[in-house]
Amino acid sequence: MKTVNVAIMGIGTVGGGTYEILKKNRALIKRTQGVDVVVTKILDRSAELIEKRTGNKDIAVTNLDDILSDDKISIVVETMGGVEPAKTFIKKVLLSGKSIVTANKELLSKHWAELEQAAKDGGAGLYFEASCVGGVPVIRTLTESLQGDNVLEIMGIINGTTNYILTKMTEEGMSYGQALKEAQDKGFAEFDPTADVEGFDAVYKLSILSSLGFHTCIPYTEIYREGISKITVNDIESGKELGYTVKLLAIGKKKGNKVEVRVHPTFVPSAHPLAAVRNEFNAVFLKGDCVDDVMLYGRGAGALPTGSAIVSDIIYCAKATERRYTDFENNGKLNAPTEILSDFDSKYYIALSVSDKPGVLSKFTEVLGNYGISLNSVIQKGAADGFAQIIFLTHTTTENAVRNAVDEIGKLKVVKSVDSLIRVI
Ligand code: HSE
Repeated sequence: MKTVNVAIMGIGTVGGGTYEILKKNRALIKRTQGVDVVVTKILDRSAELIEKRTGNKDIAVTNLDDILSDDKISIVVETMGGVEPAKTFIKKVLLSGKSIVTANKELLSKHWAELEQAAKDGGAGLYFEASCVGGVPVIRTLTESLQGDNVLEIMGIINGTTNYILTKMTEEGMSYGQALKEAQDKGFAEFDPTADVEGFDAVYKLSILSSLGFHTCIPYTEIYREGISKITVNDIESGKELGYTVKLLAIGKKKGNKVEVRVHPTFVPSAHPLAAVRNEFNAVFLKGDCVDDVMLYGRGAGALPTGSAIVSDIIYCAKATERRYTDFENNGKLNAPTEILSDFDSKYYIALSVSDKPGVLSKFTEVLGNYGISLNSVIQKGAADGFAQIIFLTHTTTENAVRNAVDEIGKLKVVKSVDSLIRVI
């Protein structure tokens, strides 16, 4: 039987989960996969920490060279997170000819081209199933199940922290601040929650998924991003009245050579399967020109779910007869003839605080009409101090038309504030 010696860099939550799975399921993997995967070294800041997390001090190392110089190690797992020193370590490992398995979406989306080049130069593999949507096998689905399809759409809830917060606001009426605090207390949200709540984490993942699905680099900087920190309980309640549930969606669509990629809060019809994805769970819809719709659902984070994706990559790498690299020119740039489409089609929810006076509504509808925006419904909510909130739900229109119209409406004297602009599917 083939024995594969593995090192783990970073014994935090995900590194610890990976170690646990490899111990717990070692016999199963040997029996069913024909490989004996053994963790022989773990790198972290202190040997005491490694011993505390694994109960094994013999495998603890605090210097990368101890891994690089070990010829018996062929696969190195990176679960350190962040860009540096992970990037420097990964490049050294790849150039030494050892393959990398990583969960690091930020690093991959920012420096994929450089890492893949290091892998090619070292004759090593670069595997990253765990980088997107934790234990949900979305990368392998794109690269090994839908490789004969023209992938037209990738849409989903790919951040668990924000889904947890929005679920608590929707179901328990919590404010954004209360729900964030609960997410932090439960260990979903970081002390500094910016990456999750402002949509960066979802943008990194969408850049990886859409690059694989659309066969061209989709730089994360090209993805439109809006987080959830401005969503109010009032928006959520108004959405419910209109039959919608708010979710932070990542959306990638391909139409010929044009690609639209965006992450933003979205009202989803309450009967839509994505509306039923609650708490920290994730779900991704993929649409191929042949397979049509595929939906994947599961845990997008956590020690064992993410560890499960890492172990799958370790086994894949151990059994691979040749290295797998991306099937497009991976230079970190959008490859011609693909173009990013920023003026996409959508429906919109627009909330305004306005003077509660006769004739005010007609002023807004006139501006909307001038931009060719047709209304589906209008709600007026309780007036106070001479002001009321007006909520418009539009029919399908374009992003630019709505932005221009809302800009103009915001300048009208009768408008106190434009409170919300939320896209609707
Ligand atoms: N912080 C992420 C989430 C998990 O909340 O989904 C790791 O990407």
